Amino acid sequence: MSSINKFASRMNVTVVSNKRVGQYHQIVLNVGEIVNVCKPGNFAAIRVGGDNASMILRRAFAISRVSLSGPYGGSMELIVAPFGKGSKWLCSQTEGSEIDLIAPLGSAFGIPTEPVRALLIGGGYGSAPLFGLAEVLKSRGCRVDMYLGASTGGKIYAPMEGKRSVNILRIYTEDGSMGERGRVTEPIPGLVADGLVDVIYSCGPMPMLRAISEIVAGTDVVHQCAVEESMACGVGICMTCVLPVSDADGSISMKRSCIDGPVMNGASVVWDLVGKIPEAHA
Ligand SMILES: Cc1cc2nc3c(=O)[nH]c(=O)nc-3n(C[C@H](O)[C@H](O)[C@H](O)COP(=O)(O)OP(=O)(O)OC[C@H]3O[C@@H](n4cnc5c(N)ncnc54)[C@H](O)[C@@H]3O)c2cc1C
Ligand code: FES
Repeated sequence: MSSINKFASRMNVTVVSNKRVGQYHQIVLNVGEIVNVCKPGNFAAIRVGGDNASMILRRAFAISRVSLSGPYGGSMELIVAPFGKGSKWLCSQTEGSEIDLIAPLGSAFGIPTEPVRALLIGGGYGSAPLFGLAEVLKSRGCRVDMYLGASTGGKIYAPMEGKRSVNILRIYTEDGSMGERGRVTEPIPGLVADGLVDVIYSCGPMPMLRAISEIVAGTDVVHQCAVEESMACGVGICMTCVLPVSDADGSISMKRSCIDGPVMNGASVVWDLVGKIPEAHA
């Protein structure tokens, strides 16, 4: 039985900086020593709205990067889209504000022991955890290409310093306002057919993750995806985040994406049943 990330702790942390980057906010938090146990793919659950807010549920945000260097000790970077009430509140927090956070939560991307050819695919703010992942893969001798996609250029998050950790960075927008016109999944079949990729790491909207799983089905390419299912508690209690996953014996079980994920094997997720209740469970 899975349980909450054993390194998770709840703490009050300070906002070091909050910068607008395109349609996102890059928020850096002074989190101290927990950076030593945060891995690419983990997320943070943040209490939003302050002490008197009616918003009870914490909001989940991928840990984009962590750093031990700098004048503030351990720092954690989040990339936040101002979407609804909670994320807009977080984006309004200025330097010096205090935030109540639980981290690190969830599973992490698996890092290969041997150098591999890795393709990192991010949709929208899904690129957030991929830059930290790229740095780790590069340090293990992997070739790292990154393809980012979004509906329009303002929704691409591709910081200058992050570009240094990848061999090739390609950008795809559906309206053609940045990079190449089209969907980020379009070039993948060609790369897979030419044998240019060993592992795909992805993070972004569920239809994108599903499309990648379908492209690599029946090939040797491993697909690790960070799923983004709505989460109410973020710590394994409420069961709102369950996803159908096939086990080794072919049976389907509902896994909690906050503790069994968010990183999952794309080949194990039963994409047809996402959002439905499998018969055995009905
Ligand atoms: C693992 C993970 C990583 C994420 N990473 C990022 C990131 O890096 N950057 C980013 O901008 N966003 C990220 N998100 C999305 C982010 O959590 C949501 O955009 C945010 O929660 C929206 O909150 P809101 O108050 O702005 O929106 P609202 O729509 O006002 O509230 C949404 C919140 O309501 C609750 N809720 C609503 N419906 C349900 C439901 N059916 N079941 C359970 N709870 C529900 C949840 O707590 C949800 O977070 C991530 C989500 C997940 C699950
Ligand atoms: S969000 Fe509550 S169990 Fe996963």
